[in-house]
Amino acid sequence: MSASIEIAGVSKVYDGGVRAVDAVAMDIRQGEFFSLLGPSGCGKTTTLRMIAGFETPSAGAIRVDGADITHVPAHKRDMGMVFQNYALFPHRTVAENVAFGLRMRGLDKATIATKVKAALAMVELSGLEDRRPAQLSGGQQQRVALARAIVIAPRVLLCDEPLGALDKKLRQQMQFELKQLQKKLGLTLVFVTHDQEEALAMSDRIAVMNGGRVEQVGTPTEIYNQPTTRFVADFIGDTNIFRGERAAAGQSLDVGKGLILALPTEAQGTGVLSVALRPEKIRLIPRADAATPAGTSAHGIVENTNFLGGAVLYRITLEGGHRVLVQQPNAGTSRLFVPGNGVTLQWTPADLVVLKD
Ligand SMILES: Nc1ncnc2c1ncn2[C@@H]1O[C@H](COP(=O)(O)OP(=O)(O)OP(=O)(O)O)[C@@H](O)[C@H]1O
Ligand SMILES: [Mg+2]
Repeated sequence: MSASIEIAGVSKVYDGGVRAVDAVAMDIRQGEFFSLLGPSGCGKTTTLRMIAGFETPSAGAIRVDGADITHVPAHKRDMGMVFQNYALFPHRTVAENVAFGLRMRGLDKATIATKVKAALAMVELSGLEDRRPAQLSGGQQQRVALARAIVIAPRVLLCDEPLGALDKKLRQQMQFELKQLQKKLGLTLVFVTHDQEEALAMSDRIAVMNGGRVEQVGTPTEIYNQPTTRFVADFIGDTNIFRGERAAAGQSLDVGKGLILALPTEAQGTGVLSVALRPEKIRLIPRADAATPAGTSAHGIVENTNFLGGAVLYRITLEGGHRVLVQQPNAGTSRLFVPGNGVTLQWTPADLVVLKD
């Protein structure tokens, strides 16, 4: 049976004073695929290792299904862990590697053999029982690490950048398979990655971390469409961020250089505000000679183009000097622009997201 995890005000200060994790709070639901996403050094591994019991929090508590496990040793937590580098035993066979956790638990030989067989079948490695890790491909080693973690039927599976060493094609295949396996077993899975596309593709919910803190927790669409902070808007995908002054009771933001942005009707706050506008939310048309309606359009010149296959990314300089990214689908019907083209940009106020700094 999988479990829920509650991380309540957890901090970790390492010897030497590094505050790696700072008052982190999050609730991970039973059966959820939950990702910790953030740049290098933001505290992802430290958080995962505290959940696993390999590190002790300096403050706060970790609860599993409501029970405080903050000081329960790792081997009594019923959690499986897949390490970034797999950490397989090089001199042991695939079967021995997978059997490790079961032997530690003192199960009898026959039971171990049955469970190892089932776990290897689950990750499609049947027949490779007697090989050693060095005789396997990267993807197969990754599956052994996964089999070793799930064979103990853990309440929680913890994965630290498990797909980091794989090439893109294999990585996508393993993303798909890991997600299938997680759903099939109903596992609560905490997944660490610094790859935003991977997190968006796989997760039920994501916690975006920055400097030891959680910036935002939400579904992939919430994180992408309604980032709450400048960091999240900037870290997830490409975006345009504008900063300006909002007059009291005004419905627009003056971001300087002659550019005014009409704000969404529900926008809160006055004074200095930042807003994000995704490149694909802007429409691009050949330059319309008529004056543009204030707040929802602007004229500019295409500086350069980046053909992405299914879409085209344009870098555009607006008349006042702002530089803006615009992405258009390569739909065949939409016109492709080239550097030097005069264009008009149009957007909808509802697509602007007001950010906390
Ligand atoms: N054992 C340790 N002693 C002291 N400082 C540490 C230790 N382990 C990690 N740190 C520091 O704590 C911070 C967070 O490290 P952590 O490994 O959790 O980051 P991360 O988000 O997993 O990064 P990456 O994406 O590079 O793996 C970093 O500044 C790191 O240097
Ligand atoms: Mg790490």
